[in-house]
Amino acid sequence: MNVPLIDWQPYAPLQRLHVDWLTNAGVEVAVLRLDLIDPLISGNKWFKLHHHLRAAQAAGAQGLISLGGAHSNHLHALAAAGKRFGFTTVGLLRGHPQATPTTRDLQDFGMHLHWLGFAGYRARHEPGFWQPWHAMYPQLHTVPEGGGGLAGALGCAPLVTQVREQLGAVGWADYDAWWLAAGTGTTLAGLVLADPREVYGALAVPQDHGVAPNVQAILQQAGQASRPYQLIEACRGGFAKVDDQLLEFMRASEQSSGVPLEPLYTAKALLALKEAVQTGHIARGRRVVFVHTGGLQGRRGFASPV
Ligand SMILES: Cc1ncc(COP(=O)(O)O)c(C=O)c1O
Repeated sequence: MNVPLIDWQPYAPLQRLHVDWLTNAGVEVAVLRLDLIDPLISGNKWFKLHHHLRAAQAAGAQGLISLGGAHSNHLHALAAAGKRFGFTTVGLLRGHPQATPTTRDLQDFGMHLHWLGFAGYRARHEPGFWQPWHAMYPQLHTVPEGGGGLAGALGCAPLVTQVREQLGAVGWADYDAWWLAAGTGTTLAGLVLADPREVYGALAVPQDHGVAPNVQAILQQAGQASRPYQLIEACRGGFAKVDDQLLEFMRASEQSSGVPLEPLYTAKALLALKEAVQTGHIARGRRVVFVHTGGLQGRRGFASPV
């Protein structure tokens, strides 16, 4: 069966965030709750996949092949979408076979997994990497890591519309800026392309992991290379590194706001926002939309107390 035309358009609620560090600083934040759009296809993933799925459908492909780690939110959403909408999915995984809550779900959703080892996965940007996979799966459409590229970014434009449509519900006439976690920078690039307001990306990965060149490449491809945005250091020692201060912040935030977070992206991004508010980088009187990019499924891979 070929990839069908899918017209599912999930809608994320916009909710005010009430925490004392915002009240004290006179900054207002509303959270776009992409974590609530669906129990399985959650967060920014569906939006980044949208145009890739369209391209696969237009090409008459039978499914999609992509790559990620053993806790990948992207592969999780892709596999869940494949199961729900009826198309084949193949995942190329970093490292050696291991059972995580995520990989068990991938298998339950019917995704076919190949483990590439660590060196094999590092080779993913080399020319010729995809050749054997295209030979093995000529009927599948390739999606870059994290659902990236211009196609991924363009799929994020509805986030802007959804926020604008709900401003009245949070008592705002307008807003000043976006704040969100950046892993590949694709979602950030999508917002930069779709909205002239300021966009801040809190880096979930170290500075040398290519987010800035990746965002620049997407903006360039869209003919908008000079559009401004800011990347904020937020990874706290490395991707997936967590520390007691972060975990305590996450626990306290969840308790006071009722908004669930996970430590790798959303908690780090919110903590970076707190620091920006407290240092005056985000000034009194500003209204900021914080994008909850989901990822709560990945939290199962962490031991207590997370
Ligand atoms: C939960 C979560 N938030 C944010 C991101 C970052 O999104 P992007 O890769 O578009 O920067 C990712 C994936 O990379 C993610 O899984």
